[in-house]
Amino acid sequence: MADSDSSKLSITPSRDILDELLSPIGAQDFFARIYGETYRHFHGDPGRFSNLLPWADLNSILRRHRLDFPRLRLALNGEIILPETYTERVAGRRSSPELRVEPLTAHLNRGANLIIESIEEVSDSVDELARSLERKLFETVRVNAYASWSQIPGFDPHWDTTDVLVLQTSGVKRWKLYAPERKWPMLRDVEPNMDPPSSAPTAEVSLSPGDVLYLPRGWWHSVNTQEAPSLHLAVGFTPRTGVDLLRCPFTGEQWSHVVAGVGSQGLPVRALWMASMARMLWPRVLTR
Ligand SMILES: [Fe+2]
Repeated sequence: MADSDSSKLSITPSRDILDELLSPIGAQDFFARIYGETYRHFHGDPGRFSNLLPWADLNSILRRHRLDFPRLRLALNGEIILPETYTERVAGRRSSPELRVEPLTAHLNRGANLIIESIEEVSDSVDELARSLERKLFETVRVNAYASWSQIPGFDPHWDTTDVLVLQTSGVKRWKLYAPERKWPMLRDVEPNMDPPSSAPTAEVSLSPGDVLYLPRGWWHSVNTQEAPSLHLAVGFTPRTGVDLLRCPFTGEQWSHVVAGVGSQGLPVRALWMASMARMLWPRVLTR
């Protein structure tokens, strides 16, 4: 397929990238009905993410960049593999350890999942996507890459502290999703949400190339590769909440009361847009 194929995701100022990812409902309907409330699976053309992080780019990143543990890590069956087993310090260099190709490949062949955090910092195409989404979401966006060459899971069921848009670029992954018993749990929370769900999943979703999954923070999930090799990008963003507005003055026991009273739901995008405009127009006033 030619690079000029119009079905591929194209990030230009004139296109609303969020609308395209959330097609057919679009961003407006998404913020009104889905955002922070429930998951949503968006089907897309299989080739639309093929330019985002091709396998050749991932190989190049591994070859050219020194990505320290745990930013680059391997996971297998819920365990993180010791980085000393696939990295080495090079004599005469004081820099961080380098990847060793043979043991790294052996781990991947045995089913290890490869994770690279903040891959937008080393990929121009992913960085363009992240910056474009930041302008729409008014939130800081970080993108992690998850690659697997087998059907062995990397992680036990867990929930994340960020909302996430999952972009499936290659292969097929099956997600089991569990609605949280209490919405919008936080890392430092008055009611820690640590016990994995014992009930049946709320939904099971198979993501194919070109598909997008939105998952609000706090939703338990487990992921299995169905067709390898598989690669997805997890676009994470943390909606600012009422708690953030009040975070500075409170500590300890006071903090618990603040969390319980103010709420941890994400602030509406309209409020963040107004805050962003206010920061631009009256920076000195707002930083005093
Ligand atoms: Fe996760």
